Amino acid sequence: MLPIARRVADLRARIADIRRTGGTIGLVPTMGALHEGHLTLVRRAKAENSHAIATLFVNPTQFGPNEDLSAYPRDEASDAAKLTDVGCDLLFAPDVTEMYPAGFTTSVTVGGITAHLDGVARPGHFGGVATIVSKLLLQSLPDRAYFGEKDFQQLQVIRRLARDLDMPVEIVGVPTVREADGLAMSSRNRYLSPAERAQAALLPRILAETAKQLASAADAAPILAEATAKLLQGGFARVDYVALCDETTLAPIERAQSGSRLFAAAHIGRTRLIDNWPVA
Ligand code: PAJ
Repeated sequence: MLPIARRVADLRARIADIRRTGGTIGLVPTMGALHEGHLTLVRRAKAENSHAIATLFVNPTQFGPNEDLSAYPRDEASDAAKLTDVGCDLLFAPDVTEMYPAGFTTSVTVGGITAHLDGVARPGHFGGVATIVSKLLLQSLPDRAYFGEKDFQQLQVIRRLARDLDMPVEIVGVPTVREADGLAMSSRNRYLSPAERAQAALLPRILAETAKQLASAADAAPILAEATAKLLQGGFARVDYVALCDETTLAPIERAQSGSRLFAAAHIGRTRLIDNWPVA
């Protein structure tokens, strides 16, 4: 049975035991509804550390007022079974009052990177992410913490905060795990109807195609506009952005250069999907 810690004090006591025997710790923060993308992070954490610890917390402060907090899929028993199968050593699953006790007023704000893409489309989102991830890293002080490139801007926000706040933790980025048709795995994919699920695969297809065109184009703008039009024609209800950005600063750039990446966020039915693609 996978041990589950509910309190920070319990988490710290178990980590102290691991440290006493010279163990190393890989942390994998999640919001649950685990799929192969999450499990790949846990396997990697286990391969590179003596112990893998996953966290499960649906963080209310990173959801906007009209987002899916109350509908977010929750199934701790099934998540715990999956974590056991991949060799996870401990699950930290606190409740909201453990993470945000009465009187909580501190927030972590990462500037620069958050002025673009989802920082604009989801106001307040990265403040919530930066605050909870700072707490999780400080509660556990792992050797390494693992985050997916699926949420590339989030990964860069976390790299920035760990560096800026001198957290003694290595932040490891893990490539996106995809379904057979290219759709990036996401807990939100389960909201898609069968028809929407079929249409959703257009997003990675268009990103791959657009990334190839951008690699040799002098001006990205018309190619990005065409990609947006294709998503809308293909059944997406709304496109928040299709943007070519520098992968470190996340600032938009006019033409591909080394270290540039293509980012997109688009709505299909009531579901918002994000994805990103390297531009060679
Ligand atoms: P969640 O969406 O549950 O994702 C947890 C981790 O799994 C993140 O690092 C995310 O990038 C990674 N991940 C999700 N889908 C993936 C895929 N298809 N391939 C590879 N990695 C994937 O992201 C969050 O939770 C939260 O914002 C969190 C960091 C836990 C803070 O609350």
